[in-house]
Amino acid sequence: MRVAVASDHGGFELKKTVTRYLESQGIEYRDFGTHSAESCDYPDIARALAEAVADGTFDRGIVICGTGIGVSIVANKVPGIRAALCHDTFSAHASREHNNANILAMGERVIGPGLARDVVKVWLETGFEGGRHARRVDKITSIEETFCNGKGL
Ligand code: RB5
Repeated sequence: MRVAVASDHGGFELKKTVTRYLESQGIEYRDFGTHSAESCDYPDIARALAEAVADGTFDRGIVICGTGIGVSIVANKVPGIRAALCHDTFSAHASREHNNANILAMGERVIGPGLARDVVKVWLETGFEGGRHARRVDKITSIEETFCNGKGL
């Protein structure tokens, strides 16, 4: 599995926790930045990561800001992206089983490093259940087709 990771300055420290976890598990990832604690704009970071997931360069993305809200809003603007803001393992699990979420968003100012590691672990290890959930996810895709004129990335 190829994983893309990104954060703004508000998620910079938690991104380090996440990349350390991925390294410890031997999971291949690319760090889309930011690369310092200096202030930057989360839409730039989240958009770059979301495009790389939507075009298939990466299987999954993990994106972090102060709250996780800004980056999840941005990522969900990109056709093909289903970004889930999760600060607990139940939501992380359900976002994969039910929603086939391809991006996990978290907020460094919301969640501690220990729980964040567990959320990442559960989110990466849980598969999509398909069945009735596939029908519902297909309906999400059809909304994108309506509003994006059938032209995703
Ligand atoms: C940056 O201060 C903060 O607004 C950002 O990290 C994020 O929380 C936005 O949703």
